[in-house]
Amino acid sequence: SVNNQGIIKDHGDFIGVSVIFITESIMVSRDPQRGSMAYNNYSCGTIPPLVVLVALFLYFYLDARVPEPIPEKFKVKVMDAMMKTYGHTVNVLVCLGITEPFSDFVRKIADWFVLTMVTGFPWGIAPYDPRLKITDTHIRDIRVKVYEPVSGLGRTDRPVLIYLHGGGWSLLSVDSYDPLMRKISSDSGTVVISVNYRLSPQYPFPIPLNDCLEVVEYVIENSKAMGIDKSRIAVGGDSAGGNMAAAISLRLKSKIAMQMLLVPSLQFVNFNTTAFNENTMYLNRSIHDPNSLMFVINYLGLEPKYLSYLRYNNHTSPAFKQSLQNEYADQTLWLPRRYVRDEKIRENMEQPMDTGDEELFEKIKNVILDPLVSPLLADDELLENLPYTYIMVCGYDFVRDDGIMFYERLNQIEEEAHLAYYPEAFHNALFFPHGPLKLNVGVRIVHDIVKTLKNVL
Ligand SMILES: *[C@@H]1O[C@H](CO)[C@@H](O)[C@H](O)[C@H]1NC(C)=O
Ligand SMILES: *[C@@H]1O[C@H](CO)[C@@H](O)[C@H](O)[C@H]1NC(C)=O
Ligand SMILES: *[C@@H]1O[C@H](CO)[C@@H](O)[C@H](O)[C@H]1NC(C)=O
Repeated sequence: SVNNQGIIKDHGDFIGVSVIFITESIMVSRDPQRGSMAYNNYSCGTIPPLVVLVALFLYFYLDARVPEPIPEKFKVKVMDAMMKTYGHTVNVLVCLGITEPFSDFVRKIADWFVLTMVTGFPWGIAPYDPRLKITDTHIRDIRVKVYEPVSGLGRTDRPVLIYLHGGGWSLLSVDSYDPLMRKISSDSGTVVISVNYRLSPQYPFPIPLNDCLEVVEYVIENSKAMGIDKSRIAVGGDSAGGNMAAAISLRLKSKIAMQMLLVPSLQFVNFNTTAFNENTMYLNRSIHDPNSLMFVINYLGLEPKYLSYLRYNNHTSPAFKQSLQNEYADQTLWLPRRYVRDEKIRENMEQPMDTGDEELFEKIKNVILDPLVSPLLADDELLENLPYTYIMVCGYDFVRDDGIMFYERLNQIEEEAHLAYYPEAFHNALFFPHGPLKLNVGVRIVHDIVKTLKNVL
């Protein structure tokens, strides 16, 4: 069972977590928006009587509604509870004035939570893996973790995957991705360079992207010395990392052999997508928390007050909504109907064209319309001569439609691309090819990534 593997290690931890939960539950009861993964910026509440607390604790901890087609529901509920615990814990610490949202301490906690979900322990797995040589080092001042299968050591023609982790440009690190990177590297025999780029909101666009670009360019220039075959360089990443991998491929084109875009976010102009609307109905205080649009605010370097503009596209202008460029993100043109589960949503995909905020759009248009931020908005010419593109999307995911529409666009101009679609998976299913919450679909996703690396590189 999950508990035996260290998620709740002993009574001491359980009581500690309970206290945090109970306190936070009260605050949630006062303001249902609280406890979100992405938005930990609330003021503190007051403490009502104990009975209410215990009831609320049970109510808020075990309340996940998992959609029928998702298998292994208990594991998904535990994951949901873990993510909510993270949000609650950070909220309490922020309320007590112990830390700021998106501080290094908060990021440390996020890493602990992810490692606990993925391995059962906050410190992750044992540091020694006999199949791999793992090096913690820097490339041009950027911290990287390099995974080299020992079977290929000494060779000069090795393939490499430069991997950009997810976490909304704001959270997570090479440390929380260590288990996944080990698995991908040792199973595929590919060198993996995992990049610890700087994070938003402290470092908004273009800083995280430039950090990643520097590492990729360094590897291209120094491939020989690194024992890497220049024609076998792939760039990949999930979520925010997938966004930046796509941006890097637009910049470097054929210098890259493959881009791996895993559950990527690929555009910043339409957040009222069918995927967003279908999925806010489930797990909406963990992975499908609408407040995760805070990550967009962070990357754009905007003030938090603009968060509410994003959800229904009030951050673009009516004039833009009529423009040619907006058509690249128009679901009525680019999203095959079969991907939409909800019949009502499927039959009404038209967006209103007359809403928006001119002033905010003026302020952000140069960034959000930049193909390096919204690769889906690149014109056909810019999409030509891209590397082989592997896109992975999940059915239960806010950014599902971004990946599908990008694939449709590449297909239309006959660029080589493959779409791997997992209808029963959710955004972070790729974290779980192993560990206490191991999912069958997580095993399949990572197996397919490994197979692709072996076949294409
Ligand atoms: C969140 O999910 C619950 C069901 O779990 C649903 O009743 C509620 O309407 C959802 N909230 C939003 C904003 O969609
Ligand atoms: C959101 O998108 C749907 C179409 O998918 C549309 O019917 C609806 O009016 C939009 N809502 C807002 C507030 O723009
Ligand atoms: C979006 O902006 C319009 C005005 O253009 C406003 O009427 C509407 O309430 C806004 N919607 C949201 C969800 O903020």
